[in-house]
Amino acid sequence: MMTDSQFARAFGKLIAFLVVLTVVLIALGAMIGGSIDDKLKAQTEEYTQRMVDSRTEPVGKMNVGGDTQSMPASDSGTTTEAAAEVTQVAVVDENRGQEVYETACYICHNVGLTGAPKPGDAANWNPRIQKGVDILYNNAILGYQGQFGIMPPKGGNLLLTDDDVRAAVDYLIELVQ
Ligand code: HEC
Repeated sequence: MMTDSQFARAFGKLIAFLVVLTVVLIALGAMIGGSIDDKLKAQTEEYTQRMVDSRTEPVGKMNVGGDTQSMPASDSGTTTEAAAEVTQVAVVDENRGQEVYETACYICHNVGLTGAPKPGDAANWNPRIQKGVDILYNNAILGYQGQFGIMPPKGGNLLLTDDDVRAAVDYLIELVQ
């Protein structure tokens, strides 16, 4: 049998142990919580930076297939480099509309999902084009509830720039002209 004082000592030890355990758990919690916070913060910052980069990118510079910085330095100076960049931009711009269409618009427009005007369907496109190209740009960028269905802003791909969407609209218009 334990005497009262033996019991008190054993009980005291138990309490001391529990106090230490509590402190350890609190410290552990703070550490884990802190690192999750840091991760979240880093991810948010990276995402924000990407959004800013994609908005502030020079027109037509996306998808150049290797950045211009890493192009071999030309020894004849800046003129050639500038010329090279201009040629690249021109090449990219030509295909940008189709590229955007195929990644962000195709899914609805190609099959006419919920009334989306199909590419090349002049009867459907012509009355729309008559509203004015700027209205089509705006409706594609900001979204549009028409007679047939809903065109989501930028086709639902908010990472596209306004110029990307305009290029895709231009591409769709060209197909019926
Ligand atoms: C989720 C399906 C969907 C996606 C994705 C989509 N659209 Fe549409 N879009 C529609 C529908 C539906 C309409 C027709 C709405 C109506 O007239 O009732 C439409 C209409 C349009 C119109 C005509 C607007 C007008 O004023 O008549 C344009 C231009 C257009 N889309 C461009 C695009 C472009 C560019 C993309 C890709 C960036 C895209 N759409 C992606 C569903 C979509």
